[in-house]
Amino acid sequence: MSARLSPRLATAIGALALPNPLICGAGEPVMTAAGIRAALAAGAAGVIAKSINERPEGAAQLERADYAFLSPDHQAGSAGPALFCRSGLAPYEPAAWFATLAALDREAAASGRFVAASLVLAAAEGAVRIAGLARAAGLRVFELNVGAPHAAEAAAGAIAQETDPAALAALVGAVRAATPGMQLWVKLTGLASNLPALAAAARQAGADAVVMMGRFMALVPDLDSMAPVLGTAAAYGGPWALPIVCRFLAQSRRAVGTTFPLLGTNGVRSGGDVARLALAGASAAEVLSVVMAEGFGGLARILAELDALLAARDLRFADLVGRAADAQQSYAAQPKVTGRSGGARWRDFVPPETLAE
Ligand SMILES: Cc1cc2nc3c(=O)[nH]c(=O)nc-3n(C[C@H](O)[C@H](O)[C@H](O)COP(=O)(O)O)c2cc1C
Repeated sequence: MSARLSPRLATAIGALALPNPLICGAGEPVMTAAGIRAALAAGAAGVIAKSINERPEGAAQLERADYAFLSPDHQAGSAGPALFCRSGLAPYEPAAWFATLAALDREAAASGRFVAASLVLAAAEGAVRIAGLARAAGLRVFELNVGAPHAAEAAAGAIAQETDPAALAALVGAVRAATPGMQLWVKLTGLASNLPALAAAARQAGADAVVMMGRFMALVPDLDSMAPVLGTAAAYGGPWALPIVCRFLAQSRRAVGTTFPLLGTNGVRSGGDVARLALAGASAAEVLSVVMAEGFGGLARILAELDALLAARDLRFADLVGRAADAQQSYAAQPKVTGRSGGARWRDFVPPETLAE
């Protein structure tokens, strides 16, 4: 698939050149070698394999995982486009899983692509040890997820969320020391508002790239059962999340500089959405819900849409990165805005009764 796509899609995460910016994000579809091969066959430039960590509680949670697609008016049992779920971690022994992933990474490298290992943080010691195992297996990319949304609901100790820049720098520094020569990507939470400071801390501590942002936590009351959908709060994402991610990407680009690679995740449903993330500052996108909703063919669809969008504008993907972010202005820099009646603009956005004398 990727061989038929245009060179205009090429991108890079630091020293890692990629044929296109579409990465299959970590999740159940890429919890098997067959799933990872299917993502690559659909054209993905890379795969972040389903995460593990050192705690048995994270893997046990997978047996209690459940999923619901929600309509825009919050109805469960629909075809989407939002995905509400509580997931768990892959129940694999790290060295064996990483040996499988390293073999897949070697296969992927033959066509300029990659397969990465991923860890959802439980504690620093475990993260450092498991990162070292990924390096020993010969993997080239390690993604450290410090903000999986389930931290508050999962069993105690299973998943940790790092939202303090100093603590994040210490953690990333320790994992960096265990992964010389590897690409170290840090995936940040969607549940904090200090993402620019966290991105800067990760960069200073030696990360090669920062991925943002994790999904949100939500509760969805069902109108028939009057109980929460799935019975619990759970992680929630959908197309609505994408503009929020874009704002944090643009803010973070200012904090880390225009040459440090950022990746976007959360809400991509189309090639246009990948372009939007790029305009906000992302050099690549991690996409998952689309695969759960429509299969791996969704990745091929998104790539074809992005290729067509760039061809129609005679642009390369690299031309997009950061353009909207760098054009963003402050409220105070805006000129006064005149409405249809010649008065203030707010008058166009209220019912006529509001303006009655
Ligand atoms: C069912 C499910 C499982 C996931 N598992 C992981 C995981 O193990 N590790 C991780 O870093 N992210 C995980 N994620 C997050 C995704 O990789 C991705 O960042 C997120 O779903 C937002 O992108 P999307 O809107 O394209 O789905 C998971 C998401 C879902 C929906």
